[in-house]
Amino acid sequence: MVTITMNGKEIKAEKGKTILECARENNIYIPTLCYDETLSIYGGCRLCVVEVEGARNLVASCTTEATEGMVIQTESEKVVKARKNVIDLLLSNHPIDCLTCEKAGNCDLQDVAYRYGVREPSYIGEVIEYAVDDANPVIARDPNKCILCGKCVRVCDEIQVTHAIDFVDRGFGATVGTPFNEPISYEICRLCGQCVSVCPTGALTNRQFEGTRPWEVEKVTTTCSLCGVGCTYDLNVKDGRVVGVTPKPDSIVNGSSLCVKGRFHTDFAYSPDRITTPLIKKDGEFVEASWDEALDFIAEKLNKIKAEDGPDAIAGLSSARCTNEENYLFQKMMKAAIGTNNVDHCART
Ligand code: FES
Repeated sequence: MVTITMNGKEIKAEKGKTILECARENNIYIPTLCYDETLSIYGGCRLCVVEVEGARNLVASCTTEATEGMVIQTESEKVVKARKNVIDLLLSNHPIDCLTCEKAGNCDLQDVAYRYGVREPSYIGEVIEYAVDDANPVIARDPNKCILCGKCVRVCDEIQVTHAIDFVDRGFGATVGTPFNEPISYEICRLCGQCVSVCPTGALTNRQFEGTRPWEVEKVTTTCSLCGVGCTYDLNVKDGRVVGVTPKPDSIVNGSSLCVKGRFHTDFAYSPDRITTPLIKKDGEFVEASWDEALDFIAEKLNKIKAEDGPDAIAGLSSARCTNEENYLFQKMMKAAIGTNNVDHCART
């Protein structure tokens, strides 16, 4: 353990922790834009700077280890001035369109600009205008709003292990893109949307939320039913209708991670193709039937097959979309009622 002093408060911290980690453990606010506790440390935005007694310059708290005897100020005049300047510089090449931006109300850059009272950029100079990429049905990409925090690049590389995107070019012209600036394709990108969920600005947004303000949705925590992993996420419900999904970072199973199905495939609930009643094939055509009719039909068929060819002529395949209890009952039925071990599950592997 080491003992440090932060804003006049003595803190005991585990050796090896950064100043930022110590601050967060003690509910001391330090703003960040490029830091994410699940990703490697980048130290690019410099918004998390703090003043350390005896240090020549302000230090980035996310990259600096707290060492014995350190005396730290997290909101001194010098620190606030530096943070305002960082925000000012970021805004100097950023659209000031918060009134209509899809990310408004859920944007880290907007939050820090508000907190430090930076209303507009004071630096007037060249502004790069990139084309907005809205060809993808679920992910909108506006490179003009990218602040080069690199979170999307790191999450794609370190969590998703796909490396579909990286920094392209250098200096003022740097941006995030695909190899050789090819359009995003399924061969390299799995459309998991991890990049969308870590993006602190409106550079990457989930198009399913277009037209929905963050404060309009009610979040309902649930378990994804699309495979056997059982990821936890929040359904975002607006006016009684599911708009989309957002991860629940404290989920034990999946943390902030979701796959393409879990994150984007909520539309099936409202699909007109969804089967809502049992169907029985009669004269080559599926016709709607009642549950009693359907269950009698199945029981009759299973009994007939069992009587003629034995129980092992029957196999059962259950679904990851059912609960564990339902799947347990299904295998019980196959073993006890039908008398076969031919039972499997789509999420077994
Ligand atoms: Fe520390 Fe960006 S959060 S440098």
